[in-house]
Amino acid sequence: MSCFSCISSRHKDASRIEIDNGTRSSSRCTTDSSGRRKRRESKSWGGSGGSSTKGAAACSFTFRELATATKNFKEMNLIGEGGFGKVYKGRLETGEVVAIKQLNHDGLQGFQEFIVEVLMLSLLHHPNLVTLIGYCTDGDQRLLVYEYMPKGSLEDHLFDPAPDQVPLSWNTRIKIAVGAAKGLEYLHCKANPPVIYRDLKSANILLDDDFNSKLSDFGLAKLGPVGDNTHVSTRVMGTYGYCAPEYAMSGKLTLKSDIYSFGVVLLELITGRKAIDTARRPGEQNLIAWSQPFLKDRRKFIQLADPLLQGRFPVRCLHHAIAITAMCLQEQPTFRPLISDIVVALDYLATQSSSPKSQRTHDDRSPLHQPPDRILDYGM
Ligand SMILES: Nc1ncnc2c1ncn2[C@@H]1O[C@H](COP(=O)(O)OP(=O)(O)OP(=O)(O)O)[C@@H](O)[C@H]1O
Ligand SMILES: [Mg+2]
Repeated sequence: MSCFSCISSRHKDASRIEIDNGTRSSSRCTTDSSGRRKRRESKSWGGSGGSSTKGAAACSFTFRELATATKNFKEMNLIGEGGFGKVYKGRLETGEVVAIKQLNHDGLQGFQEFIVEVLMLSLLHHPNLVTLIGYCTDGDQRLLVYEYMPKGSLEDHLFDPAPDQVPLSWNTRIKIAVGAAKGLEYLHCKANPPVIYRDLKSANILLDDDFNSKLSDFGLAKLGPVGDNTHVSTRVMGTYGYCAPEYAMSGKLTLKSDIYSFGVVLLELITGRKAIDTARRPGEQNLIAWSQPFLKDRRKFIQLADPLLQGRFPVRCLHHAIAITAMCLQEQPTFRPLISDIVVALDYLATQSSSPKSQRTHDDRSPLHQPPDRILDYGM
């Protein structure tokens, strides 16, 4: 069983990681007496003072193993599809349920993203980052095996919920934001050198059964500037609608580019609107442009709230959340807050939102007072 057979020495980022870090784990899996794979513990990439967290190492799978796990990539097991390829639910021979992403066979870009994804997730381990269980590089096949996230992506829950789907409550939205912020804090502040995620969006925030959120898709991630450098220059990549304006215009990538994208996700959580929604009428298709008049006037904050919340949120918390969002969306990157400050602010909001004292909801202001059970109902 080979390890990192997918890594081509041509790839710049690959060599950079080896030099900068020196903690690339060597062996991935062992086999137990029954012949089943067991993942070894590997060192993570974090802690400037040499401290490191541990996570299980990624295994190399054969294509046959993954075909068996998905019952030959049966349509019934298809759980999603993105630019990289199709995603299937599967069960490994160990019984572990996983999500298996199969790379489309078109283009070098996907192949490079595959390499970066394996490298990054082999080094980065945090409860708010999705775990890479393994990968497959049989012949020209490229597959990634992740922990299975039962509630799918934030996007699946936030926009156009089906009539039988319960809309995300205010508390759940804040909980998801806190988890995503902590994942980003790990990348920006604990990984050394820092990692710029570059693809923060609601489709890449995955949810477990309790709505704990985890960041996924590190194929576009970049090592952040080191030494006196203020930015890294790159080809502009990412997703339209989430991209920081200065990055889109100049290709200058900084940690603050991620903060802007985080602001867009916060705005999506508050409004229930997509960053870009071509199904809306002109003037409402770009969320940032549409939201400007509301973000600039505190008296209009309330109009930003997702109608599906039905007023069930503490007004003070909504105001705080919008204030944080507006800071993240500042045109000038230097005016945007650091992710560690955002984590503190959102954590505070999470405690406020769930404390009984703060349960004055927007509904309370309505002349038609809500029955108490309705007001208590705004929890998760
Ligand atoms: N680990 C996982 N567990 C459960 N579902 C997953 C997992 N990874 C992906 N999915 C599902 O597959 C869908 C597609 O994910 P994928 O990352 O391939 O594309 P995307 O992020 O939506 O778009 P793109 O890759 O083009 O930016 C997700 O929206 C999610 O519903
Ligand atoms: Mg994704």
